[in-house]
Amino acid sequence: MSKKIAILPGDGIGPEIVGEAVKVLETLRENGLDLDLVEAPVGGMAYDLHGDSLPDETLSLAKAADAVLLGAVGGPKWDGLADRSKRPEKALLGLRSEMALFSNLRPAILYPQLADASTLKPEVVAGLDIMIVRELTGGIYFGEPRGIGKSPAGERRGYNTLVYTESEIERIARSAFEIAMKRGRRLCSVDKANVLEVMVLWREVVNEVARDYPDVEVSHMYVDNAAMQLVRAPKQFDVIVTGNMFGDILSDAAAMLTGSIGMLPSASLDKNGKGMYEPIHGSAPDIAGQGKANPLATILSVAMMLRYTLDEAGLADKVERAVSAVLDRGLRTPDIYTGNGTEVGTSEMGDAIVAAIAN
Ligand code: IPM
Ligand code: MG
Repeated sequence: MSKKIAILPGDGIGPEIVGEAVKVLETLRENGLDLDLVEAPVGGMAYDLHGDSLPDETLSLAKAADAVLLGAVGGPKWDGLADRSKRPEKALLGLRSEMALFSNLRPAILYPQLADASTLKPEVVAGLDIMIVRELTGGIYFGEPRGIGKSPAGERRGYNTLVYTESEIERIARSAFEIAMKRGRRLCSVDKANVLEVMVLWREVVNEVARDYPDVEVSHMYVDNAAMQLVRAPKQFDVIVTGNMFGDILSDAAAMLTGSIGMLPSASLDKNGKGMYEPIHGSAPDIAGQGKANPLATILSVAMMLRYTLDEAGLADKVERAVSAVLDRGLRTPDIYTGNGTEVGTSEMGDAIVAAIAN
């Protein structure tokens, strides 16, 4: 049966990079993968069209699809929207929460061809292969109460709530242990249990779940130390599991270890493995429309979709091998160009990947 993929390009460089990923999907379709691609507006462009960054039709399409491919949302044009519920970022949070995509996988892999693009010394990052598992539908991003009100003394007071229930911690921990079992069997849980009660509970529940995975070596690290260790000696990590906000921050740091945030894909999965796939970078309004953006993070997100939702590990390998082959040939978008090889634009890079897949 044909698999339905919702294509949500979004804002900024979103349409350009998703366009290249769609070329990849179409190539796979021509080679026999039964896919039905349906596009819908999301983010600022959806706000401009429909007055809503996540229109009902887009949300229904995303929910009905087998998988969602998202570009990026947001930009300065919408940063000043007074109604916060209409902001492009809300569309992203709405999709995550409405689709119950609680497990966010953010791999940070250094392609050996790009070792010189990292700002860290090659020996610190060579061979880097980390998986960050970020809790995505809870924590301070969604906790209530939240708002901006008045203090008893009458001054303005802003507040958010960092809250996790036992079951929320347990399911993300299980997700991370399962992934660790398929990798190096080492899991580091990152928290702030020295200060926050919610993180004391986090640590307790992770340790309870650990009993079901005796083959996985578990460690715990405070988030400030984890940030330091990530830039000091990142190869000590195999899988990291952490809450929503810490995962947001640490995954950007981990991305830069690999040279460019333009290389890193992500998967956000629900309990049945249905997912939304997107590059971890943003909409990069400064380079939008110039054909300079790196489409590889989005193309690698397609590989994750093939692996995690479509059950096509062979095709996922094929896409990843094509990326590696094109990097071997020296093709580089500006973000990963360091003076060697050939500088190319977004669509040239996409075309090269398509050609390498066909080979
Ligand atoms: C990310 C982004 C989002 C987040 C923003 C755009 C809401 O930074 O996916 O990491 O904070 O989760
Ligand atoms: Mg982020």
